[in-house]
Amino acid sequence: MINLFSNIVAVVAVSAVGVLADLKNKTAYPDGLSGPFTPGFNNYTEAPLEWFTPWGAGWIPKGCKDRFIGKGYDADDVEVFNIKYTDCDQAWTFCRHKDAQLSLEDMADSFGRMSVHMRSLVRHPIALPASSGCSALAYTDIGDIVMFGNCKGLTVWLHETGHQLDARLKPSNRFSGTTPWLEALERDTCVPDSYANTNTVEDFAQVVVVAQHETLLGYKPEEAFPGCLDQRQGLLEHTFQSDYLEYVGRCSNRPRDSEIVSTKTTKREKMKKMKRDKAQEGNDPNVVGPCSFP
Ligand SMILES: *[C@@H]1O[C@H](CO)[C@@H](O)[C@H](O)[C@H]1NC(C)=O
Ligand SMILES: *[C@@H]1O[C@H](CO)[C@@H](O)[C@H](O)[C@H]1NC(C)=O
Repeated sequence: MINLFSNIVAVVAVSAVGVLADLKNKTAYPDGLSGPFTPGFNNYTEAPLEWFTPWGAGWIPKGCKDRFIGKGYDADDVEVFNIKYTDCDQAWTFCRHKDAQLSLEDMADSFGRMSVHMRSLVRHPIALPASSGCSALAYTDIGDIVMFGNCKGLTVWLHETGHQLDARLKPSNRFSGTTPWLEALERDTCVPDSYANTNTVEDFAQVVVVAQHETLLGYKPEEAFPGCLDQRQGLLEHTFQSDYLEYVGRCSNRPRDSEIVSTKTTKREKMKKMKRDKAQEGNDPNVVGPCSFP
């Protein structure tokens, strides 16, 4: 995948994180997680899709409208679908821009391949277009995840949902900011890949991908430095494996859907939302990303 380094990414890196010291000088998977982890995930998961139904034109969940307008898109260009999986009584409402690289089937399949408890951390999965590659944002105070471009890989969906797991709708209490996690990080000698070196929040989300593979398949792809992230992985599994990573059970504790609003947008509303979105992306700790992956 192409690493999309847009202006926005550069601004965020400087303003939100400040000093960009690497967490570690070794990486367990020097070429990124997508290559080594995708085959196992694809082999061992299947989306338990039951049905999907489109919404009528003119209506959109507010969470989706905020993102569409905020990113400069027209809310009338949305395709809204309710997607029902067999392991949850309640459908998820997905929003896709008509020009998004991800098809609705791609979204339903990638999202559905995650465990029902990981899916339950997400309110609306949203797909928007990108000129190339894949990047993504997680709105961790409301549970929405936004995929820009060709983000089919399960490692990306698990990473963004990993941000939701980290925050569980309370970003000020992120697990990746707790003393046990930071101590485990201190004892470990590597990060999963170079992207994880961005900061502790991105590192946590990449360790989620590793822990998910281990939970699902009983092993992880071979690391360049065996055991170099075992402290974090062990703590993450100890804390979250049975409630989130195991492929069992049914959905629970889902964030409530956002309210249904009209796609119609006034110029004034458009200006306001775009301005707010711009300010938010650089400075709001609830908004994680844009994550872009090697
Ligand atoms: C890597 O980090 C370790 C521990 O922080 C340090 O001892 C070592 O000198 C570093 N190696 C390089 C090549 O920077
Ligand atoms: C995935 O399945 C293919 C085809 O059956 C197999 O060759 C490959 O070894 C499997 N990979 C993993 C990681 O399970």
